[in-house]
Amino acid sequence: MKITVLGSGFAGRTLAGGLADLGHDVTIGTRDVQVTLDRTDPDRMGNLAYAVWARDFPDISLAPFADAASDADLFVNATAGAGSIAALAEAGKANLAGKVLLDVSNPLEFSQGFPPNLFVNDTDSLGEQIQRAFPDTHVVKALNTMVGDVMTTPKSVAEGDHSVFISGDDPAAKRVITELLTSFGWIDIIDLGGIQTARATEMMVKIRLLVMTSLGTPIFNFKIAR
Ligand SMILES: NC(=O)c1ccc[n+]([C@@H]2O[C@H](COP(=O)([O-])OP(=O)(O)OC[C@H]3O[C@@H](n4cnc5c(N)ncnc54)[C@H](OP(=O)(O)O)[C@@H]3O)[C@@H](O)[C@H]2O)c1
Repeated sequence: MKITVLGSGFAGRTLAGGLADLGHDVTIGTRDVQVTLDRTDPDRMGNLAYAVWARDFPDISLAPFADAASDADLFVNATAGAGSIAALAEAGKANLAGKVLLDVSNPLEFSQGFPPNLFVNDTDSLGEQIQRAFPDTHVVKALNTMVGDVMTTPKSVAEGDHSVFISGDDPAAKRVITELLTSFGWIDIIDLGGIQTARATEMMVKIRLLVMTSLGTPIFNFKIAR
């Protein structure tokens, strides 16, 4: 499949790399290619600069959001929550129309430092805001409840015996994302219902960041034990 991952940060790259490893034709979207390639310092989480990371993935191309989006079969939104609507707008409503969008973003805002607050919660969610802004796109929220590494390699934690949630209004789009998650090795995929249920999974970032601080590692996940 031709997949455009909007977002050149850790989550976007990890998903792009995982998708490329599965044989997909992947393009990463960014605001400004040269600015992204010129960065040399690790980001605030200590992740490698884009150009250093990209040496291991010569088949993944980098393009401005609009160009990256021009002929993709499927989209991933891995942009900073506060910039997601703007990034998707740059990608172009027409390019996104009729397509499935896997949305891994969280509505984080860092004005009070770490841990971040959510700029939308309880009565609305970023997933819903994106769905309202792009009504012809089939938004499926998933994978936003874990760190990037775990998204694409669930078997790296407890041999994959843990859970991932999906939220979305379109059953066919959820089937596409379920298939994609299965190809990453996900087994316990829990369909929570419509995109409105993203309110709950986006709020899970609060507990995830506290657990990360307590354990001293981001490599863990939630398991829904029955
Ligand atoms: N990191 C994780 O493990 C993880 C886990 C779960 C969920 N998430 C979610 O995934 C998303 C990406 O996270 P991340 O850690 O990879 O990096 P991030 O720093 O949250 O996002 C980086 C991406 O957002 C774009 N961006 C930032 N501000 C923008 C704006 N105002 N307008 C348009 N685009 C903007 C950047 O564009 P440029 O390419 O131009 O720099 C870059 O592509 C976030 O919503 C995050 O909450 C991340």
